[in-house]
Amino acid sequence: MNAALPPLMDRIGHMLARQADRAYEGQRTESVSALAHALQCAQLAEWAGASNSLVAAALLHDIGHFADDEVMSLGDAVDDEHELRALPLLAEGFGPAVLEPIRLHVAAKRYLVAAEPAYLSTLSPASVHSLMLQGGPMRPDECEAFAARPHAADAIALRRWDDLAKEPGRPTPSLDYYLALLAEVVQPPAGLGGRSGQRVASLDHEGVVGR
Ligand SMILES: [Fe+2]
Repeated sequence: MNAALPPLMDRIGHMLARQADRAYEGQRTESVSALAHALQCAQLAEWAGASNSLVAAALLHDIGHFADDEVMSLGDAVDDEHELRALPLLAEGFGPAVLEPIRLHVAAKRYLVAAEPAYLSTLSPASVHSLMLQGGPMRPDECEAFAARPHAADAIALRRWDDLAKEPGRPTPSLDYYLALLAEVVQPPAGLGGRSGQRVASLDHEGVVGR
């Protein structure tokens, strides 16, 4: 890591690097490590021509799984609410274009299962298992509310990359490559009462559709 990077970037880099040997999705493991999953997801976003903010969201979308020792010890029998646990950390340096697709990527799975009949069959066993813990398919009214959210389209795109980013052995750019991209997206800390206040206000549960 570059020592000149701000502390937030150091923490993110450390959290991701620690996942190189950790199976993704607890006991019902996926076929790639959590780090490989993050890198593949970011790569798919890049290949799709996504903005740097959305590539950053793709890289960081599961970082809430590793937020602290408590969440890492939960196992996969409960919903760890990882899409929310990531937000306090990431709000230190990222705005809604990064935060909101992350916040909504679980809701996007619930939306897609309800809106696209064939979608469920594309999910891995681990994703089907977590879907049930996360509330299952959305009701029609939940789908309508979700689709109307400003970042719903980005969250759905992220969700589709998330589902595909589980290919064993697929080469990707390095973690350092994507950390350099994050450094372009990260915003300097705002003064007290400034932009940071707006970001904190965006972290409540109100925006979570039908958890
Ligand atoms: Fe994921």
